[in-house]
Amino acid sequence: MGKEPGSTKFQTDFRRHLREQNISGNLVHLLCEIAEASKYVINAVRTGDLGVAGTSNLYGEEQLALDVLSDRILRKRLMYSGVVCNIASEEMDEIFQVTSNPLGMFSVAYDPLDGSSLVDVNLAVGTIVGIYQGDNLLQPGRNMVGAMYILYGPRVSMVYSVGKGVYEFTMNHLMEFTLTREKVQMKPSGDIYSPGGLRKNYTPENEAYIRYLENKGSKLRYSGGFVPDINQILMKGKGIFMYPALTDSPNGKLRLLFELNPMAYLIEQAGGAATNGCMPILDMTPEGLDQRAPIYIGCKEDVAKATEFLNGVCA
Ligand code: F6P
Ligand code: MN
Repeated sequence: MGKEPGSTKFQTDFRRHLREQNISGNLVHLLCEIAEASKYVINAVRTGDLGVAGTSNLYGEEQLALDVLSDRILRKRLMYSGVVCNIASEEMDEIFQVTSNPLGMFSVAYDPLDGSSLVDVNLAVGTIVGIYQGDNLLQPGRNMVGAMYILYGPRVSMVYSVGKGVYEFTMNHLMEFTLTREKVQMKPSGDIYSPGGLRKNYTPENEAYIRYLENKGSKLRYSGGFVPDINQILMKGKGIFMYPALTDSPNGKLRLLFELNPMAYLIEQAGGAATNGCMPILDMTPEGLDQRAPIYIGCKEDVAKATEFLNGVCA
């Protein structure tokens, strides 16, 4: 952002910004590769086939053609980036090893097209990415060296952090990402709530917490897409997203590696918090790629209040 002397508005592009962050050249390269891949994903979202692929993922969910295509776009970019040793995706059954030598390399966990069934009804969707140094993907999210998401809405935006604050870039008419928000910060508490899952399957503790939020004057803001719902909370700097344990699914729905950890990293970097009700999401050690967990994520005080309501009752 800012202006160069004697010129019209000067836009900071992603690569230039990253180079100023004092991070390794390999990490700059990786983040730029993911940003490049997202340009093909948005093209697929805008014009691709909306049908089913005829396959299902690890969770038994029917894969849409768009899920499979987005997964392939990202995987290929990462494979040939020269800086990635292991890849795990919500759409793949196991870890894909690019090279057995992890020296100077990264491992990447991603959800290529979160909320893909919303494309059908023209709502916003996104890509979520977590980055680890070395070859171990099953370690606490707190060890990530970076996280990002790309939101495909009326505009395409990308939000990332490498542990030096949260930055938002927006795609311009030349499909370049230019800096639009710096050092995004969450307020201590907020008045937006975004509750996932079927309310009739909420436990009494969660039901009481929702009533507390409603009584305090929080407005319901839920699109059914994790990326746009988190983005609203993060960019407005206020509110809470929750996907609690449900009576018929004690670990909730969202996946620790592909969805929760990257978002928890970004929200914590912005001064917010994310918990499963008992401990910070980022301190959980994943037992497998497919691990799910309940989540309460957003303003610190609202998240602390959720923990109070749960009173030690969690998955
Ligand atoms: O990937 C799962 C997802 O589509 C998220 O984007 C979203 O937050 C959640 O599911 C919505 O689930 P539900 O319809 O149960 O509220
Ligand atoms: Mn998902």
